[in-house]
Amino acid sequence: MNAKIISNRRVSPTCWEMNLSCPEITREAKPGQFVMARIKNDVDAFLRRPFSIHDIKDPSSFYLLYKVVGKRTEAMAGLKKGDSLDILGPLGNGFTIDADLELAVLVSGGIGAAPMLFLLRSLVKGKLKPKNLYFLTGAKTKDEILCTQAAHRLGVQIFITTEDGSLGKKGMINEELDRLLEKTIKDKLDKIEKNKVSIFASGPNPLLREVSLIGEVFEVSCQISLEANMACGFGVCLGCAVKVKADHLGFKYKKVCSDGPVFDSQEIIW
Ligand SMILES: Cc1cc2nc3c(=O)[nH]c(=O)nc-3n(C[C@H](O)[C@H](O)[C@H](O)COP(=O)(O)OP(=O)(O)OC[C@H]3O[C@@H](n4cnc5c(N)ncnc54)[C@H](O)[C@@H]3O)c2cc1C
Ligand code: FES
Repeated sequence: MNAKIISNRRVSPTCWEMNLSCPEITREAKPGQFVMARIKNDVDAFLRRPFSIHDIKDPSSFYLLYKVVGKRTEAMAGLKKGDSLDILGPLGNGFTIDADLELAVLVSGGIGAAPMLFLLRSLVKGKLKPKNLYFLTGAKTKDEILCTQAAHRLGVQIFITTEDGSLGKKGMINEELDRLLEKTIKDKLDKIEKNKVSIFASGPNPLLREVSLIGEVFEVSCQISLEANMACGFGVCLGCAVKVKADHLGFKYKKVCSDGPVFDSQEIIW
């Protein structure tokens, strides 16, 4: 699919936000899904790269939020309005939003914030009250904290940590999640049935593992968006297999691209 670039702007020293015109994606997409993208006519780029759908504000276009880490993302940062990306999607399962959800805690690390804005927007559009919607985001330093202004505009509760203490609390975002559930919103949580509370997390796999342990301790369901290397993005190459629990054999493999990228955290064998 051809997606024309409407804008491509730097939002931090290492991250860019790209707005793409593609009603076919916008119509179908749900939070947590991703696209496989490659620069049109780029002979070096044989394989597409996966990027989460970052936001959708109108029916005709969607946003990507990407960090420049290598050759392809560097090339993407050089694209201008009117250039095109060759896109496949929307792919993957996306987050499940239960109709009776009353309180949601979204946790992200670094560029893991990318899928969270679309999820926040969808939760706010649903029946969830912004005061029961918590966005916890952490990074190494303040320059890598993303999406907080947009989250602020949605009226949700925001908690920030940085490893160097340059913004928010000094420390890791999983520690903030622990504090939130144990102290900050304990009284609120005590009044809501456990099955009406959910954690949604995205970021590096070690963070997801910590978040999943916290979910287990507090008996709160936890959906995590896993990172994996992807070649095809739609279940053919088996390059993104991850070990999950299975009753009879003890474990089996699932594909992050087509069975995920979102999994119930209790399913994963870390
Ligand atoms: C489902 C899914 C959704 C994703 N969504 C996003 C998104 O919304 N925004 C985004 O920026 N990225 C996202 N990623 C990661 C993104 O696909 C990679 O950053 C991208 O493929 C890198 O391509 P490249 O050619 O620039 O780097 P490569 O040449 O492939 O890699 C360059 C170097 O960067 C390292 N690297 C690769 N990926 C990462 C990473 N994520 N973080 C740190 N180092 C990395 C490699 O190990 C290598 O050393 C997602 C990945 C998955 C699986
Ligand atoms: S990336 Fe090819 S099967 Fe998942």
